[in-house]
Amino acid sequence: MSIISDDIENITPKRKQVKNPMTKAETLETDRNFEDSIRPKTFEEYTGQSALKETLKITIEAAKKRNKPLDHLLFYGPPGLGKTTLAGVIAGQMGVEMKITSAPALERPRDIIGILMSLKGGEILFIDEIHRLNRVTEEILYPAMEDFYLDMTTGKAQTVKTLRVPLPKFTLIGATTKAGELSGPLRDRFGIIHRLEFYTDEELAKVVTRTAEILEINIDKEGAMEIARRSRGTPRIANRLVKRVSDYAIVKYDGKITKDVAKNSLDILNIDAYGLDSTDRTLLKLIIDKYEGGPVGIETIAAAIGEDVRTLEDVCEPYLLQAGLLQRTPRGRKVSPEAYRHLGYKVPMSIQQNLF
Ligand SMILES: Nc1ncnc2c1ncn2[C@@H]1O[C@H](COP(=O)(O)OP(=O)(O)O)[C@@H](O)[C@H]1O
Ligand SMILES: [Mg+2]
Repeated sequence: MSIISDDIENITPKRKQVKNPMTKAETLETDRNFEDSIRPKTFEEYTGQSALKETLKITIEAAKKRNKPLDHLLFYGPPGLGKTTLAGVIAGQMGVEMKITSAPALERPRDIIGILMSLKGGEILFIDEIHRLNRVTEEILYPAMEDFYLDMTTGKAQTVKTLRVPLPKFTLIGATTKAGELSGPLRDRFGIIHRLEFYTDEELAKVVTRTAEILEINIDKEGAMEIARRSRGTPRIANRLVKRVSDYAIVKYDGKITKDVAKNSLDILNIDAYGLDSTDRTLLKLIIDKYEGGPVGIETIAAAIGEDVRTLEDVCEPYLLQAGLLQRTPRGRKVSPEAYRHLGYKVPMSIQQNLF
């Protein structure tokens, strides 16, 4: 894999400082080297997402048999679920190089043109945060994706000529947390579109165990489950927690992660039983404190906590819904009795009687 953008370090938008970055699903600066060292390279190492993996294996097999490049693929879903990793696994399986870039790094036409012209037949181009492509870049991509050519203009004024430059057949893999923000024409040019799902505790326990092995840390089943449960359904968070708990295990205990070791260290790190981050908690508390548990409109919530609606919908809410702490209703968002209990509130009668 090669990273072709100089700006790769700057592609993640600067977010507000949060109190506990441990439970953020987005990449933290401190993650990068660690993440690369534990990133699964094969379908066998890539835990979970079984339906998606099966489909992909067949697609890859077919493409190989016909000696054709893969269709363009789009992966979407909340951060940290394994989109980038999966793209790498696919490249490995196809036996081709993957070049990685990100939409915010493709600012000028020459950025995307340079990359497209550097590709070799069959190679994979991975564009992260693809919903953020600018208009001009998108329009250069359309014919490149569809018919593998570039339209280039040369000369000035009267002498302008359009040149049709053929490109090698490549595969574009796009990843986004915000599928809704992708333009229709761009989305239509992907042959295969897949959503990544949150992981079950059992799947995350596998991820945790594998990572502990790589870190050469002893861990038992219950220890792995305890970390898995607090990982917000997200492998990136699971890995981060393993690392922190390992530190505790080495320094304060006898080096082995058991249930108690995991529990005590995660409590000290202030990571709750659902692995909620500060935005999650602020959102739930707001609905409880100011709106008697809801329903309240997402715009109102967004304005009150200073996040944008899309980020709440695409990054924050999916897990809260999945965990059963929040519910979407036609009249807005409502919290569940479990959310009251979890945040240490007494469940009001009105909510208890409400058929959640
Ligand atoms: N299915 C998986 N099995 C094991 N580890 C995973 C899996 N998916 C993601 N990871 C781990 O989680 C981290 C984040 O994954 P990544 O692909 O960067 O997420 P995304 O691109 O969706 O934000 C990676 O370092 C990787 O090691
Ligand atoms: Mg990624």
